[in-house]
Amino acid sequence: MNILITGANGQLGNEMRVLSNAHPKHTYFFTDVEELDICDKAALSAFVEQHAIDLIVNCAAYTNVDKAEEDEATAMRINAEALSVLGSQGVKVIHVSTDYVFSGDEHIPCRETDPVAPRTAYGRTKYEGEKRLLAVCPEAVILRTAWLYSEFGNNFVKTMIRLGKEKEQLGVVFDQIGTPTYAADLAQAIFTVIETPCWHPGIYHFTNEGVCSWYDFTLAIHELAGITTCHVRPILSEEYTYKTPRPHYSVLDKSKFKKTFGAEIPHWMEGLKRCIARL
Ligand SMILES: NC(=O)c1ccc[n+]([C@@H]2O[C@H](COP(=O)([O-])OP(=O)(O)OC[C@H]3O[C@@H](n4cnc5c(N)ncnc54)[C@H](OP(=O)(O)O)[C@@H]3O)[C@@H](O)[C@H]2O)c1
Repeated sequence: MNILITGANGQLGNEMRVLSNAHPKHTYFFTDVEELDICDKAALSAFVEQHAIDLIVNCAAYTNVDKAEEDEATAMRINAEALSVLGSQGVKVIHVSTDYVFSGDEHIPCRETDPVAPRTAYGRTKYEGEKRLLAVCPEAVILRTAWLYSEFGNNFVKTMIRLGKEKEQLGVVFDQIGTPTYAADLAQAIFTVIETPCWHPGIYHFTNEGVCSWYDFTLAIHELAGITTCHVRPILSEEYTYKTPRPHYSVLDKSKFKKTFGAEIPHWMEGLKRCIARL
């Protein structure tokens, strides 16, 4: 297959690039906004036609949750409007969405069929993107994920390693619960979808296994990175100034993905070990 990967300079896009080496039977076209802006309808159609693309893996997104509050229009253009165009190319599409489509008020893992209730501009734009994609491309696969990190780009793991080296004390929230997800494992999930002989369209939840708070995650990061000089203190969300409300509980139920694709998913700690070893 000829596979177009958009947003290839991001965390997930870079992990797709790394993993593509293990799947040499396909031809890959890695693009980011400089080479191919997913909002540019004419450019996207021309690219798909010129390179006889069979499948688009959309890793491009407007991912800055705080900035999206101030500029929802731009976030909407990239996270939603572009999806109508991307889904209209007559090729297969794998798209990535987020736990932010949910309110975060639940206490049990969210299933794909649970009602959505985005509380942020980012969440609203991502949910709108899901709807617009499915309206034009009902055969699309959408993977909702959460708490993504990687050795590429900026993310929580890298920030905590930096702060752990700089500071003697650090307060990290313990009342927000979720599952850290190594972007390399999400990339593997995308290849599982690609390599499964039968195409199974629909929305799926994918994160690593297990559950923790940002506080627990930070302790694990520091331990694995050998940081011993920083005392990490559990704090409440109300003690930290967030520009945008953060979900208190954003654990996703992955049963549908595991059952459909017969996949085993690594625990978040195992993913973190691999990421820190690569860092
Ligand atoms: N990060 C998380 O914790 C998280 C959680 C849940 C779901 N997700 C979803 O997972 C997916 C991958 O996230 P990620 O963390 O890999 O994102 P990322 O690191 O922010 O990468 C996104 C990439 O898309 C590029 N991009 C932005 N606008 C574009 C456009 N118009 N055309 C083409 N490329 C464009 C970005 O370029 P610039 O950097 O120049 O803007 C960036 O290189 C996204 O759909 C995201 O919504 C992420």
